[in-house]
Amino acid sequence: MKYLISPSILSANMAKLGQEVDDVIQAGADMIHIDVMDNHYVPNLTIGPFVCEALRKYGIKAPLDVHLMIEPVYAIIPAFAKAGATCITFHPEATPNIQKTIELIKTYHCQVGLAINPETSIDYIKPVLDQLNLILMMTVHPGFAGQKFITDVLPKIKAVRELIDSQNKKIRLSVDGGINIDTIAQAAQAGADTFAAGSAIFGEKDYKKIIDQFRSQLKHND
Ligand code: DX5
Ligand code: ZN
Repeated sequence: MKYLISPSILSANMAKLGQEVDDVIQAGADMIHIDVMDNHYVPNLTIGPFVCEALRKYGIKAPLDVHLMIEPVYAIIPAFAKAGATCITFHPEATPNIQKTIELIKTYHCQVGLAINPETSIDYIKPVLDQLNLILMMTVHPGFAGQKFITDVLPKIKAVRELIDSQNKKIRLSVDGGINIDTIAQAAQAGADTFAAGSAIFGEKDYKKIIDQFRSQLKHND
């Protein structure tokens, strides 16, 4: 299985974001995780579509994995798609109509992700599974970087892995929150194949070293 590392720019140095993203891609990251928070669905305020657009204008070609922690979602989805998002992930609780939200994302030819909070039922997934490209299992409560990995989510990750495998679908199973050198292998053992990580990567001076360390943890799981 190919494991993907998706650094969250929430923990990057925003004053030199283009350089930070270039550096982390050079260091071996596969995609870039963009945490969009609205001070409403979550108690924090972060990045809008203009940052995504600025990264594209700067020359970033890597997939941009946009994680919407906002409500409502409808006006912002087209804005992120036009700004160069590759995949747009939303929380089912943050929209009155999951199906309509998926269709809107697809209209703009972006990949679709569904995010599941630690306390959210995975029952949301099954009815729309065949339309998803990514399932984002939150291993912290959304809102802030640098929180502790919630191990109680591991059985849910396992159950979602089984669900994906039973359908024989090519859907990425991502974890997000508290991923570091000590937790990445547990998440992989539970079935995750994509790892969003902010503070553990951008908190290090040497991005290549930490990404290599992540990959060597994942090797034990191969
Ligand atoms: C949490 C965000 C995460 C977070 C990851 O609300 O969705 O992507 O920034 O940060 P770390 O890796 O520091 O937990
Ligand atoms: Zn995120």
